[in-house]
Amino acid sequence: MNRAIRLFSFIVISLFVSTAAMAADVATLQPQQWQTIQEHAIEGDIPELRGMPTQVELLMPASVPEEADETILGYLGATDSIAFLVFASLFGVIALFIIFIMVNGISRLDNGFSGKMIKRWSGLSISVHWLGAIACILLMLTGLVLAGGRHYFEPSMNASSWTSLVGLSSSLHELMAFPFILGYILMILMWAPKQIPASYDLKWFAVLGGYLNTGKKHHPDAGFANAGEKLWFWVFALFGGLMVISGLTMMFPETFVVTKNTANLMLVMHIASTIIISAFSVVHIFMATVMSEGGMSNMTSGYCDENWAKQHHNLWFNELK
Ligand code: HEM
Repeated sequence: MNRAIRLFSFIVISLFVSTAAMAADVATLQPQQWQTIQEHAIEGDIPELRGMPTQVELLMPASVPEEADETILGYLGATDSIAFLVFASLFGVIALFIIFIMVNGISRLDNGFSGKMIKRWSGLSISVHWLGAIACILLMLTGLVLAGGRHYFEPSMNASSWTSLVGLSSSLHELMAFPFILGYILMILMWAPKQIPASYDLKWFAVLGGYLNTGKKHHPDAGFANAGEKLWFWVFALFGGLMVISGLTMMFPETFVVTKNTANLMLVMHIASTIIISAFSVVHIFMATVMSEGGMSNMTSGYCDENWAKQHHNLWFNELK
């Protein structure tokens, strides 16, 4: 297991270092994937973002102002920084988390598994989680190609493979938006009542949830959701919402009567939200799969071990008893 983690760490860190180095190499090429937004309104999608050479026609009514705000264009023009940030929010955070686990180790159950299982998530919650989660992961991966592919993938690909990759990523990105939106809405509606902040959450943050293996064991108070999970939930609610609104606006510009400026602004908002959601998703996935011993069964079977509940969610466990 340890060997597998070390090998995986090595691959991810190498990937991150090599993509960062590649960014430095290709920065001088300045692909400028968003530049044509300055001359053309967006109809149906943002081809520039997808790395396509096509020029879209200006289909806005004459009454719609066409000037694009220079400041927003400035942000969109920094394509190498955008590509780097999108990559770093995934691979950089993966690399940091691997280093953290190598130094700190994972959080084991103090008293091992009790073998007694407690119901934690319903079948409906589990289905909704995986609907949103799988769509979200595919959106992040295809978004990576759309936002940073010209810098990181195109230079080492031939033209036809690059075109196929962009085309596939673009279609999958649009397709996955719908299951994601459904999963997102249901998760927010069904789980918000469990995620209300409480005063003891501050203490949880003060000792980082007790996940630091510094000798003295801390198991701060936590209800059904601990403070870290609540933070993730509300970050997901806020930035996931911005991602959905900006995505839908760009996907249906005529329905939402989008001007050039609004489309550009939505694109900035979409990219910024993506970077935040990606970084948090990586942390969430690591916490669920590696960091918290016994945590993964919660979202596969819906049950958790009694000792896991006592250690990580003591107030919820006491309430159940
Ligand atoms: C990237 C897309 C994902 C999204 C948007 C997402 C969202 C959420 C949210 C909002 C929660 C409830 C808050 C909480 O208790 O933490 C949750 C719980 C959970 N997620 Fe995810 N998730 C994603 C991916 C994953 C993946 C890939 C895994 C594991 C491979 C995973 C495992 C879990 C587990 C085990 C829980 C239950 C935690 C508990 O019972 O305390 N999630 N997820």
